[in-house]
Amino acid sequence: PTRFLRDYRAPAWRIDDVELDVELDAAATTVHARLSLQQDDATAPLELDAEALDLLDLRVDGRVLAGDEFTLADGRLVVPGLRGPLVLESRVRIAPDRNTALQGLYLSGTPEHGFLLTQCEAEGFRRITPFLDRSDVLARYTVTLRADRARYPVLLANGNADGAGDLGDGRHWARFVDPHPKPSYLFALVAGRLESIERTFVTAQGRRVRLVIHAEADAIGRCDWAMQCLEHAMRWDEQRFGRCYDLDAFHVVATHDFTMGAMENKGLNIFNAKYLLADPASATDDDHRHVLAVVGHEYFHNWSGNRVTCRDWFQLCLKEGLTVYREQEFESDLASRTLRRIEDVRLLWRAQFSEDAGPLAHAVRPDRYSEINNFYTATVYEKGAEIVRMLGVVLGRDGFRRGLDLYFARHDGTAATIEDFLAALGDANDVDLSPWLAWYEQAGTPELRASGRHDARRRCYELTLEQRTAPTPGQAHKRALPIPVAVALFDRSGRALPLRLDGEDAAVAANERVLLLGSDSATFRFVDVDEAPTPSLLRGFSAPVRLVQDTSPQALAALARHDNDGFNRWFASDALVRRLFAQALAHGEPEATLFSTWTGCVGSALDDTGVDPALAAEMLTVADATSLADGLDDVDPEGVHQARARVETGLACALVAPLLRRRLALGDGGDLAVEPLAQARRRLRNACLAALCRADVAHAPLARAQYEQARNLTDRLAALGVLLSMRDAGASAALADFAARHAGDALVLDKWFSLQATEADPRACERVAALLAHPAFRWSNPNNVYALLGAFALRNPRAFHRADGDGYRLVADAILRLDALTPQVAARLATAFGAWRRYEPIRRALMHRELERMLGREHLSPDLADILGRSLAV
Ligand code: ARG
Ligand code: ZN
Repeated sequence: PTRFLRDYRAPAWRIDDVELDVELDAAATTVHARLSLQQDDATAPLELDAEALDLLDLRVDGRVLAGDEFTLADGRLVVPGLRGPLVLESRVRIAPDRNTALQGLYLSGTPEHGFLLTQCEAEGFRRITPFLDRSDVLARYTVTLRADRARYPVLLANGNADGAGDLGDGRHWARFVDPHPKPSYLFALVAGRLESIERTFVTAQGRRVRLVIHAEADAIGRCDWAMQCLEHAMRWDEQRFGRCYDLDAFHVVATHDFTMGAMENKGLNIFNAKYLLADPASATDDDHRHVLAVVGHEYFHNWSGNRVTCRDWFQLCLKEGLTVYREQEFESDLASRTLRRIEDVRLLWRAQFSEDAGPLAHAVRPDRYSEINNFYTATVYEKGAEIVRMLGVVLGRDGFRRGLDLYFARHDGTAATIEDFLAALGDANDVDLSPWLAWYEQAGTPELRASGRHDARRRCYELTLEQRTAPTPGQAHKRALPIPVAVALFDRSGRALPLRLDGEDAAVAANERVLLLGSDSATFRFVDVDEAPTPSLLRGFSAPVRLVQDTSPQALAALARHDNDGFNRWFASDALVRRLFAQALAHGEPEATLFSTWTGCVGSALDDTGVDPALAAEMLTVADATSLADGLDDVDPEGVHQARARVETGLACALVAPLLRRRLALGDGGDLAVEPLAQARRRLRNACLAALCRADVAHAPLARAQYEQARNLTDRLAALGVLLSMRDAGASAALADFAARHAGDALVLDKWFSLQATEADPRACERVAALLAHPAFRWSNPNNVYALLGAFALRNPRAFHRADGDGYRLVADAILRLDALTPQVAARLATAFGAWRRYEPIRRALMHRELERMLGREHLSPDLADILGRSLAV
């Protein structure tokens, strides 16, 4: 059934208090719920959500209901004729060990050694107890857990501990009270044999908080980095946004069985182990930064998500866009701002622009959905964060902070909407932000055309900006959006000019200005400009648009060499890459002069030790094939691969001498140090190695030596990747060696799977097929599936789109198999077929056939059926 935003109704019934008594057992858990209900609409029957539950009995104000006094069908428990207030009690039985969907209460690991945990967002709580499972029903929870003490020594739920004890028969109990009213999707419990590490944190308000990270015995030694990240996150949110923590304890739990990254349950965050465990031997530099970011993300949700939550799931971006933005700022302040921004823009281009260009395109706040779990997308998360970033740019740092303070003050303890968010930000700054709603409502990537003209006689520079957004499914006509365009103009000596628009006071002049394009087109005239300047546009990627600029290659090269904004140096270099790629695609070779202009820029970044090594590494790294194919029709993935490879190899061949020089100067990657500069140096060193080996197989010994001598996983994995992509004679021995070194370490083996799945060679298809039978691969484990099949389908376009269709068949078969196990994972994999219409006719037909074949299968999950249906819709 499709749900529509316009049909929103406030709940007819409310729940003030919840008492849950949970008798835990892996095969048969019983849940006794006592709900204090209030009726707001006297005519409405009581309708609760209830799925995959074995209902034992139901009571109203203590009286047991007979079987004909209620109905339970299609996920709804309906009790007609009731008038509130009343107390509804239910007892249900559930089977966590058979819950492979990983929604609700489930078992991680084996019945003997695993532990029990929950995932309730978005609609998992209804698989634990009958409930008004919607985010605008906020209740206070008291939870009592009972379980066998030997099997489940650790018992956790949200909120503050409120007693524990022995039951005498080998079992024990623990009670938790959460004083903060919350929606059911934030409920969590954990029970099992877990180890922990603990610290005390004193908040700016003087509250002493126990910080406890829990993990299984073999993983607890890898939690120290996450603990440091958590302390940083708590302090940072106090300092940057004035947000303090609000309970006596903050628990974090790691699991290997999780469909997503992590979950912000109130006071009890649960993490995919991939985003929590990190030490030098088993995690790369990137892993360490991802842990920092995700620990921050989930912690920041305590305010942006939990204290102020979402009225309904259409507003998902209210908490996710804002929290991703906060996470980005956190990492930028603690690690490298330039690197994080480049990575975010790369991700946006690869995942969000392509989503926006196909049948799965949707608005950041969609107006309809049939399966909400399919809307945890790059659009809601990443584009959602871009909108918040634009508001931050327009309001300025202080204005944005004022707005956010008002938002939290106004809506604390309630469920809010995007309109509420914009109103608070606007009211705090005395501006009308309602035009910004269009960004939330309108799908599609806007195209921004910029053209500049210098008028020597009138000493001015005119910049004309035009916007256009192509139609997307269900949205034929597009409105103009408010687009902030950050601009600087450089003179011939590389000096940023003071910018003053015609008619403005000299006092407002600044070296960087943010122009706001509020209509289809506008011209901005800068005065006192003596010579034709070099424009630096969309600085910091000030809006999530496709920029089409008439800037000359010389001007782009000047920016790539001298722009004082690190991001825009990369952005200019990337713009040159895209032009070269287009030439290589059209003519087989990029144009020689343009090519040497670009390689000259990258070479000078490489030689200049004053440049951030992370920036130099990113300039050496050519955009991925998916993002290069953005905007193309009738895509031939093999042609795209060849054109990209020509650009990439050409760069490497042109720079062999500086690459060797710089790599030598950077020394060995050392023992893993987590400081940003040490990471940046390793990044550049490994980018140099990859380029050298691409230029000439004679450099293979460098990779072999690095593989042997590496003192951290970053360097060893990088060397292995290089050997593999060169098809070096030593590659298979190195692969075997790596697997042996890390046997039994699931997270590291996942990297080993991904490396082989993303090898840009059509034969990766056979390799992936063979690895499905590897003993470390389990179909029921989402990390394994994403590492092998997800990496293949979403990050190896050359092999997935093999002309014989074997890549498609492999993935479609896997999707059908997974659908019976973990529908959310199957649905996510199926998005790899979403862009089918953009490919050349043969691939298009092959993909279409696989989509039809999958849709023709009986008993598809609603998750998968939704993705397939929308992909095929006309
Ligand atoms: N709210 C989580 C986050 O931090 C995502 C959880 C989504 N899980 C799901 N099954 N839909 O972004
Ligand atoms: Zn989130």
